[in-house]
Amino acid sequence: MPDFSNQLITWQKQFGRHDLPWQNTTDPYAIWVSEIMLQQTQVVAVIGYYGRFMQRFPDVATLADATQEEVLQHWSGLGYYSRARNLHKAAVTIMDAHGGQFPQDFDTIQTLSGIGRSTAAAIASFAFNQIQTILDGNVKRVLARHFLIEGWPSTPSVEKRLWLLAENLLPKQNMVTYTQGLMDLGATLCTRSKPKCSACPLVNSCEAYQQQRTQSLPTPKPRKRIPEKHITMLIFLHGDKVLLEKRPPTGIWGGLWSFPEAEADCNDVDAIESLAKLRFGFSVQANRRLPLLTHAFTHFKLHIQPQSFTVQLVASKACESGQIWLKVEDAIAAAIPTPIRKILQSLQNELQLMRQDGSL
Ligand code: ADE
Ligand code: SF4
Repeated sequence: MPDFSNQLITWQKQFGRHDLPWQNTTDPYAIWVSEIMLQQTQVVAVIGYYGRFMQRFPDVATLADATQEEVLQHWSGLGYYSRARNLHKAAVTIMDAHGGQFPQDFDTIQTLSGIGRSTAAAIASFAFNQIQTILDGNVKRVLARHFLIEGWPSTPSVEKRLWLLAENLLPKQNMVTYTQGLMDLGATLCTRSKPKCSACPLVNSCEAYQQQRTQSLPTPKPRKRIPEKHITMLIFLHGDKVLLEKRPPTGIWGGLWSFPEAEADCNDVDAIESLAKLRFGFSVQANRRLPLLTHAFTHFKLHIQPQSFTVQLVASKACESGQIWLKVEDAIAAAIPTPIRKILQSLQNELQLMRQDGSL
């Protein structure tokens, strides 16, 4: 066995994480859900969501039976919502095509929606003790440093080298400990900035450490200018209710509830008022603009100007399917993205103040 894996396994047993909610089980469903949540979200943020999700959807049959709406609701706030839609879709596939049993064959696992090679390997090694190699962002960083691999790790040629390297490092036993060790090292010691090399079990063989290159490796992604978009979100208030619209099934926040939007950052309140009349069939009175909000996605930055309106009269047009009037507190609990929740929370505070001073 390579020294690398031996040292990592020994280190994991003593210093790694052993009590995370998805550890100490071989239930592929429980492991799968955790790996999907952990794909783009850190452990601390995942733990609470994971507990609530598993309580509501304890097994693959329960998840497959649920509506997408309810799955998204339990994902609300975690971001990258295609993960939740894929998870649900894959649960249905497991029920329909695999008799309700999570597949054990490595290639079959990868046919499920949302499961790529590295996630399939994590599930196969944790649940089925298979000898498979993971290569997520953390592992790429560890390998790029330890073996001094130059170039952005997700460049196809670099990635190919890293996969080959990772495969050659695999131990013949202790797969669960080894896989967890790779994850733990990347998350706790070999961190993006200020790695704690003096505590690292691999320090003696680490090339980046020896050449003092840990700062400059892995090579960062070539920077492109991130596009920015400005929108106005229209908050229609009728009594203590707000109007939400369901977003189209694909694209950002697909399938989640959000406020209606107007293009650009619209300073022209008159224009929005007539737009409201045209699009929703009710007349509105502009209140005030709420604080500007910026939300960063991976591929662009969204600047949101929330603008609230009091709706005088709700015509039937405003209750088309895909539109819903909800009390602010109920809206906060619905399947909504984080910026919408922030806006609703400040709206809730404001309404409370207005009630207290009698202006509502
Ligand atoms: N990141 C991805 N999978 C993980 C796991 N099983 N434990 C901790 N962090 C992880
Ligand atoms: Fe990472 Fe430092 Fe360990 Fe090298 S010695 S693998 S840079 S923590």
